[in-house]
Order: sequence, then C-alpha cells, then structure tokens
Amino acid sequence: MNPHADTEPEPEPEPAAHASGFAIRDHEFREIRQFLYDETGISLGDSKQDMVCSRLAKRLRHHGLRSFDEYLRLVREGDAAERQEFINCLTTNKTDFFRESHHFDFLRDTVIPYARGKGKRLRIWSAGCSTGEEPYTLAMTLREHCPASDGWDVRILASDIDTAVLAATERGVYAADRVADVPVALLHKYFRRGAGANTGKVAAKPELRELITVRQVNLMEDPWPFRTRFDVIFCRNVVIYFDRETQRRLLTRFAAHLDPRGYLVLGHSENMHWMADTFAPLGGTVYRPRVSTDTPIPRPFVPKPAEEHTIILGDVKATRGPALLKTLLGSCVSACIFDPKTGVGGMNHFSLPGVSDGGVSARYGAHAMELLITAVMKKGGDRSRLRAKVFGGGKVLNIESEHLNVGSQNTEFVLKYLGDEGIPVDGQCLGGTRGLIVRFHPHTGQAQAKPLGGRDLSRIVEKEEAFGRELLQKVETPPDDDITLF
Ligand SMILES: C[S@@+](CC[C@H](N)C(=O)[O-])C[C@H]1O[C@@H](n2cnc3c(N)ncnc32)[C@H](O)[C@@H]1O
Repeated sequence: MNPHADTEPEPEPEPAAHASGFAIRDHEFREIRQFLYDETGISLGDSKQDMVCSRLAKRLRHHGLRSFDEYLRLVREGDAAERQEFINCLTTNKTDFFRESHHFDFLRDTVIPYARGKGKRLRIWSAGCSTGEEPYTLAMTLREHCPASDGWDVRILASDIDTAVLAATERGVYAADRVADVPVALLHKYFRRGAGANTGKVAAKPELRELITVRQVNLMEDPWPFRTRFDVIFCRNVVIYFDRETQRRLLTRFAAHLDPRGYLVLGHSENMHWMADTFAPLGGTVYRPRVSTDTPIPRPFVPKPAEEHTIILGDVKATRGPALLKTLLGSCVSACIFDPKTGVGGMNHFSLPGVSDGGVSARYGAHAMELLITAVMKKGGDRSRLRAKVFGGGKVLNIESEHLNVGSQNTEFVLKYLGDEGIPVDGQCLGGTRGLIVRFHPHTGQAQAKPLGGRDLSRIVEKEEAFGRELLQKVETPPDDDITLF
C-alpha cells in the first residue's frame, strides 16, 4: 500500500529571510521564473532563487509590497513600465570593451578586407549589447579601418531588451576603470575626458556615437522590426541564458538575417556544434550560415500608428494609449498632463485675454485647465497621479509692450494654477521670443519643444492677436458663469 495515499500535501515550508529582508517561497520563484521565460526566453536554474530574491527586493520595497506573490500580480496585471523594471532587474549585463578581442581581430583581418573589395559597406548587429562596450568596440574598429573619407558606409545596430542598459549605451559615458582594456591610443582618439560632475569618466566622441543606432529589440519577438541582412551578427554571451529549443529558433532566424557571406559571432562558451546543419564553425566561436539565405526575411512588425492630433488655439484633447498631440504656440500656453500609470493624458492650448482686470480674465485659463483635467479623468486618468509639462508664453505679439505681456501672464497663470492644484510640473519651456512647436506623447509623458520662426510664427501671431481681440470683447461684457470659449 502506498503510505502517502490520502495524506494532506505537505505545506510549503516558510522560507528563510534573505539578506535583502524578503523571503521568496518556492512557488513564487517558479512562477517568476516561468514569467521571465515567457517574456524574454531567459531560463533560470534552480540555484538562482536567492539571486531573484535579492534583485527584485528593491521593486517590492519601491511599491511597499510584502510578498513576491503580490509583486508578480502587479507585474502581470499592472502597467508595462513595471514589467520592464522586472526584466531590467533580472537580466545579466556583464560586458567589457574588447571582450574576447580575437573577434575584433577577425573583423579587421577577414571581414573588412572582403568588404573593401565589395562596395565598402558593412552592417553589423550587436544583439544583446548591454551597456554598449561591445558596439563601441566595434565602432572603434570600424573607424580605424574603414574611414568615411575613403568612401566607407558602415553602421552598427546596438540592441538589447533591457532599457536601463540601452540608456547607458545611448549616453556612451564610462567610468575610467571600465575603459582599462581600451588601448591608450584609441582612448585618446575616440573618447573625451569628463569634467565637472563627469570628472573621472570618459565619453565616446560623436564619430563613434554616430555609427551606432540604439534600439530595444527583444530577441524573442517575431518578426524583428527591421529587414536588414547583416554582414556580421555579434550575439555574444546572450544565448547562454536560453534553453536549447529557444537557441535553435533564434539561431535559425539569425541565419535568415545574415548575408550569404556573413558571419555569426557567439561568446566563448556558446558552442553550436549541434546546429551544424545551419552554421559551419570557422573557429573561435565564429560561424558562417550554411543554409540558403535566400529564405525571405519575414515582414517586420509594423506597430499600429499612434493616434495623432493637432491642437489649435482653444482646443483640448485627451487620449488613452499611444498617441501624439501636437501644437504650435506663440504667446499662448499649452498644458500637457498625464497619468503615468494608465497612459492617459491630454493637452490644451489657451490664452488669457491679456488685460489687468482683477482676475476676471484668469477665469478663461481656469476653464481651459478644468476642461483638460476633466477630459483626462473621463479617459480613466486619476487626478491624484497627474503630472504636467508646460510650454509657450513667448513674447511674440506685435501689440505687446512693457505693460502688456500676454505670454508672461499666461505663464504665470498656468504655473500658479498647477501649483494650487498640486499637480507637479515635470518639465517646462516657457517664455522666450520665438514661439514653439510642441510634440507630446501622453502615454509616456515624453514631450519635445522646438523653437519656431519665420512664416509659421507670423501666422500664429496673427491668429493669436485676432483671438486676443475677441477675448477682450468678452471680458468687457463678462458672461456669468457660463463661459463658452471652446
Ligand atoms: C551578458 S550580456 C552580453 C553583453 C555583450 N554582448 C558582451 O558579450 O559583452 C547579455 C545581454 O543580453 C540581453 N538579453 C537577454 N535576453 C534578451 C532578449 N530576449 N532580447 C534581447 N536581449 C536580451 C541582456 O539584457 C544583457 O544585456
């Protein structure tokens, strides 16, 4: 008889607290591991339970959570931003300049001489580029041996799944000890020494930076968002984190994205003898595709175009999810508000009449702001989470004088309004004399403002002056509470 039949399952033992102050249960670890695998292809072994606990502890602390179950629920059901933080915490990003330097010798001695006779064009992908040491090493090698002045056209795609390391790659700023393996002559030639807050660091010069395109690419997504056939794919010390089946799928896709005379370069412990039907080894973990690379490259994923709206004077618009809101501003102001958790946000574009009237004219601004906040809340934004960026308020109108500066009235108003409402202002571009074009992505809160001049500005000034005259008439005969401006 089975002595265990009909007995209660053993309760899961309480885990011992880790040095981080948190404890992770076995089932929590299993679920986290599965979720990470589904999202990234990374397979964690049983021995990684403590590592997961210590790396995710800061996220639990950040959200004031007590258990990994609660955190996993947040990651699964919450916003994309936390899913990204989760991934960023669990990737392993170890890298170095000139790591496995024989691969850069191979580039110099084999790839570049061949390309020299074949149109002087090279496309290289650093897939899993981490903090950028690999693509910048590639860039130095290319700059040294493929001068643009000699007609070379060379580009490097640097991609990773981890947004924190991609930001570091974009910056291209490294502590002095990180560049210890860069030959001194190259260091002097291609890096600037940091000053002020960057003392002790070095920054890659634009001639390296401009060779590199930095993109987030999850190697598991299919298809990838480009159709390039590369001359060389560097994917070193990345597939080691994937299981055999994931590696097979990925490497087959790499073959389809390689030029027939191209190369795949892996890390020293990533041997591919078991894929001999697809790749021929050339030694030193460099491989050449065997399969016919006439295989068509799958059509790239084309993201749904974001909603796009142009906001004109007197307008207000709120959206949920990817969107682009644009406006042109002279003396008017535009408040861009957003709820970072839900991806809801909106923009308005308004002006006060520009008279000293004991506060009557401020009602026009208050109305514009209330319309915006209400529109954002109707889309599901939470007032207590709103943040703002504000733009405009230039001194551009022909009617302006020392006593009448509509732009600065608008600026003062909008900042005071947001302050009174307790909505933090994360960014502003106010004042000046040139007008602005503003592009705002409400779902991320990102905004860009570019100065505007010439004909665009004169057209705006004309409209704003006409609008100002209309508003003045209304102020002279102020309506009761029923302000219908928009
Ligand atoms: C150890 S680093 C290797 C860096 C560099 N290639 C080198 O060899 O020095 C591995 C990188 O692969 C990235 N990675 C892991 N899974 C990925 C995936 N599914 N898609 C894209 N990048 C991934 C990680 O974020 C990490 O930065």
